[in-house]
Amino acid sequence: MLLFREKIPAGWFDKIVSDLPAMLIDHAHLERKAATSAINLEKYRHTLRHVHTLNAIAIEELQHFELVLQLLEKRGHKLRFTPQSPWITGLMRGIRHGVDEQVIDHLIVASLIEGRSCEKFQILRDRLPDHDGELAEFYGSLVESEGNHYATFWLMACEINNEEAHDRLDHFLDLEAELMRQPHDLVMLH
Ligand SMILES: [Fe+2]
Ligand SMILES: [Fe+2]
Repeated sequence: MLLFREKIPAGWFDKIVSDLPAMLIDHAHLERKAATSAINLEKYRHTLRHVHTLNAIAIEELQHFELVLQLLEKRGHKLRFTPQSPWITGLMRGIRHGVDEQVIDHLIVASLIEGRSCEKFQILRDRLPDHDGELAEFYGSLVESEGNHYATFWLMACEINNEEAHDRLDHFLDLEAELMRQPHDLVMLH
């Protein structure tokens, strides 16, 4: 994802590899939240016309959630509570209130989360084979889907108000870079 203004921290991959079950549990919750987020995006008057597209994304995310759950169960791990990602919380806090403001911000934040997921899944696809071939293949299989979600949400934001979407993207890219420079020790994808 060329548009991001900060690189993924150098230690991110090693941290993830140190506890793959914890990463998978966090990933399961991430897919669950992606499904609910797609449905929540249907509440705005500007996005109602895309209800079928958003439903399709929600269904796809639920399928991803199920796939991660099956991987966890196969490996003898149970889904458990995980803390919120400071990076995601920080982005969500940047969403403005107001009927027309909120929808554009919500779409851009959703797009950036999908974009970073896509970028990180590519790293896992490329670097995990030395550690866990099955997971490397699994993450490779998700790259295209998350990349499509990233583009779909961004195009929806542009369709509502192109100039405003670009202004807000500029704002959120700075915020995202700032959040990326605040690494944490939690084993989670974001
Ligand atoms: Fe997904
Ligand atoms: Fe996604």
